[in-house]
Amino acid sequence: MSQPDIIITAPLPPFLYDPLKASYRCHDYYQASHKPGLLAAEGPRIRGLVQGGGTVTTTSLLDALPKLEIISVFGVGYDGVPVDYCRSRGIKVTNTPDVLTDDVADVALALIMMTGRGFVRLNRFVHAGEWEKRGPELTTKLSGRRVGILGLGRIGKAIAERVSALGMQVSYTGRKAQDVPYRFVPDLKSLAADADFLVVACPGGAATKNIVDAGVLAALGKKGTLVNIARGSIIDEPAMVAALEAGTIKGAGLDVFADEPHIPAPLLKMDNVVLLPHVGSATHETRQAMGDLCRANLDAWFAGKPVLTLIPELA
Ligand code: 8YV
Repeated sequence: MSQPDIIITAPLPPFLYDPLKASYRCHDYYQASHKPGLLAAEGPRIRGLVQGGGTVTTTSLLDALPKLEIISVFGVGYDGVPVDYCRSRGIKVTNTPDVLTDDVADVALALIMMTGRGFVRLNRFVHAGEWEKRGPELTTKLSGRRVGILGLGRIGKAIAERVSALGMQVSYTGRKAQDVPYRFVPDLKSLAADADFLVVACPGGAATKNIVDAGVLAALGKKGTLVNIARGSIIDEPAMVAALEAGTIKGAGLDVFADEPHIPAPLLKMDNVVLLPHVGSATHETRQAMGDLCRANLDAWFAGKPVLTLIPELA
């Protein structure tokens, strides 16, 4: 039987791309120098699409793929996928939940520790030879402090477990209260007002765009540090930069940004900000597991079997 044609719209690691090439006719849209030409020539044959978590898939791209059956996202986030449009065309959408939960939660914990205990600044202090000249700064005890989590899904829960182990107090907001040993706060502004660390862990997309706005940042206030391991789009980035510049929030630990890999220039100079290059899931083990799951979803679909991890909106 002939191999199904699939289109690749994001850079993929070889441990995913190579096995895909062995089973499918892969068309590299991401690297293509003439994208309209590729769509005109191959679009009518394409049955599968592979993209990254942060990749934006437009409806006009999908319009050029009339036989598309499945989008397999190499990532847990699918905020770049037009889900209603896919539903209307019967296109399946799968993602890679669970396999990356621990790693992403580890990054949130690390950002809390790095911002709260000043570890990045202190590391620079030692490297610069400053310790020879004076003693290090004192920072703030983490145990007993309050962590407000925006979005208590799989990743939010794993963050809650980690910070609880440090003796921190957890509250959260989300669509509804859950049966968990943490305090539910119905609105985001009150959560921020009550938190020493506000941790963003909800999905991106239209429903959450800029919900961490100037008002939420004002509520977080001078005592509060903002941590984001989810999507840059959830935070009003100019408002966050303004709050950091004015000193109306204490600091920020950020793994994700609105326009990656571009970072607002003022952040690069700030000593109370820790910046990571979107590495929540970036371990060998987890990226391999994400790749395996991404491919297993495609393989299942084209073998006529149920996909493994259909997104909940289409289940
Ligand atoms: C990845 C992510 O960087 O899973 C997600 O939604 O944002 C990250 O784990 C990305 O998906 C890799 O393509």
